Amino acid sequence: MACYDDFAWFYNRYWSEEFHSAAFPILERIWLDRLPPKARILDVCCGTGYLAALLAARGFRVTGLDVSREMLAYARANAPAAEFTLADAASFHLPGACDAAVSTFDSLNHLLEPAAIEAAFRNIAAALRPGGLLAFDMLLDEAYQTRWGESFALVRDDHLLTITGAAFDSHSRIARITVTMFRLLEGAWQRSDVTVEERCYSPDEISDALAAAGFGELLCYDAGDLGMAGQLGEGRTFFVATRLD
Ligand SMILES: C[S@@+](CC[C@H](N)C(=O)[O-])C[C@H]1O[C@@H](n2cnc3c(N)ncnc32)[C@H](O)[C@@H]1O
Repeated sequence: MACYDDFAWFYNRYWSEEFHSAAFPILERIWLDRLPPKARILDVCCGTGYLAALLAARGFRVTGLDVSREMLAYARANAPAAEFTLADAASFHLPGACDAAVSTFDSLNHLLEPAAIEAAFRNIAAALRPGGLLAFDMLLDEAYQTRWGESFALVRDDHLLTITGAAFDSHSRIARITVTMFRLLEGAWQRSDVTVEERCYSPDEISDALAAAGFGELLCYDAGDLGMAGQLGEGRTFFVATRLD
């Protein structure tokens, strides 16, 4: 069972809109405006399909992949015009038919081993036509050293969620939070606990992994400089990499 399976209901309800209302204008500026109309786009770690729906509404042909069955169930409902596949970013194989690829909301930080992120970049490169553009955002050191996983609680009459236990191990580079959720379903409270883990990669590790996977030109943009305010933008960098011929 993927760790986002239990998180999917809350994620779908509360998580996507705020992030993408800031991220989508950035993606339009640094990546989307460079794509041909009706481009075929691969959304890696697509989650609940919020971005896929925005892209499909603009006429792009979107394929999303994610390792969580439950996140994909929401994605299929949220973006009926897109296609979705249950797959691991570190091990999927798609023929090189895409014009572009994207991976948002620090999804690639969820790959906890350098070998896994290298494999993901290789798989994405293999799915792209030569010259295809990959856009993604990742959290860098500053994000994990500052306000990563600040305690948070959301309390409603029939559901509640807390985020606690944030920790960042600067030796292993792994950051962790615990999400505890309750939902009142058919008169009984149901509890689930999820640990979300991310790995902090350095800009050099990211650019080396991209180069090894066959990407050339790499553009980097600080999210705060591009208008992503507050904690969401802190320590977040957007990257646009071009697949070599
Ligand atoms: C923070 S969410 C972001 C979702 C979406 N990209 C967005 O912008 O809302 C991270 C997503 O990455 C997915 N994920 C984590 N590890 C993955 C892997 N190895 N392969 C595919 N998806 C993965 C999770 O299931 C989750 O849906």
